Amino acid sequence: MKSFRDFMEEKVLEYYRSPREKFSSRGDFFTAPELDRAFGEAIAEFLHPYLKNLNDPVLLELGAGRGLMARDMLSYYREKDPDLFGRIRYLIYEASPYLIERQRKVLEKFEKVDWVEEFPKMEGVILSNEFFDALPVHVVKGGRELYVNEKGEEVWLSLENESIREFLRRMGYEGLDQRIEVCLDCVEMLKNIAEALIRGYHLVIDYGYTSEELTRFPEGTVVGYKKHTLRNDIYVEEGMDISAQVNFSVLMEYGKDLGLKTILYDSQRNFLASIPGFLSKLEELSFDESPEAVERLSRLKTMLISMGDRFKVLFQSKGL
Ligand SMILES: C[S@@+](CC[C@H](N)C(=O)[O-])C[C@H]1O[C@@H](n2cnc3c(N)ncnc32)[C@H](O)[C@@H]1O
Repeated sequence: MKSFRDFMEEKVLEYYRSPREKFSSRGDFFTAPELDRAFGEAIAEFLHPYLKNLNDPVLLELGAGRGLMARDMLSYYREKDPDLFGRIRYLIYEASPYLIERQRKVLEKFEKVDWVEEFPKMEGVILSNEFFDALPVHVVKGGRELYVNEKGEEVWLSLENESIREFLRRMGYEGLDQRIEVCLDCVEMLKNIAEALIRGYHLVIDYGYTSEELTRFPEGTVVGYKKHTLRNDIYVEEGMDISAQVNFSVLMEYGKDLGLKTILYDSQRNFLASIPGFLSKLEELSFDESPEAVERLSRLKTMLISMGDRFKVLFQSKGL
């Protein structure tokens, strides 16, 4: 028997470390950087004013998938601001050796990317897209915690973990009679981020909710994905991506203790719509009737519309 948190951690790591294709139409899901390079370019444009004032800015990406966001951001800086491009170092923190190999191939031409197992002290930006949702969560309800037994059945045991109790108190969730996902790993990750950042920013893009929206998910938000299909047999089916929506209130609340000040929290739709280069790309594509432009336009609209409300953007600063 193991806690749901341990079960999820094991499954997620097993999943990302296996060589089976996960991304694109041949895999299990699409992420925004996989859809179109306009996403990475928009992130690069958004971060540009923050990075250009730093002497030797470091970008540290958490969970980089196939490395496409890194590729598109670096290509953007190389073209738009060669001076900044020359000064940037791009680091990747990645749990999957298999994906590291793929990232190395995609990024080899830049000669400024390194992979790290721990976060260095740095000035710059720590960023992630669909990373926090892969961190494992404890699941609790009414003073009990969820475990999974050897047969893949759910077992509820009395909640003994004091850190979880403290979390529920801190977030004001104690009286709620519903499944609550407690991501202590997210809090730990945030601590590492804040410790690493001497001066700089933290950008998180992921699907998620705030405390005010918690009651919309009485059964929690954990889901399994395989071949672009939502699955509810996560305990028995092998090779599935398991994730839990990110509780952004936790990142904002615990961020306060750690000197991480929230500058922006908004939907991906509003975020992208505020970036001039993204809007002009949309406009340019809408006047182009070539099949490639029509397809790209539809991908950009997906980022703005269907993904746009589900995905949120959190931007925090430290030491500035
Ligand atoms: C859903 S994918 C997102 C990939 C990429 N950011 C994108 O948007 O296409 C999650 C990524 O996080 C990595 N990952 C998951 N859990 C991790 C962990 N505990 N530590 C480091 N990387 C992790 C996975 O290997 C994968 O690269």
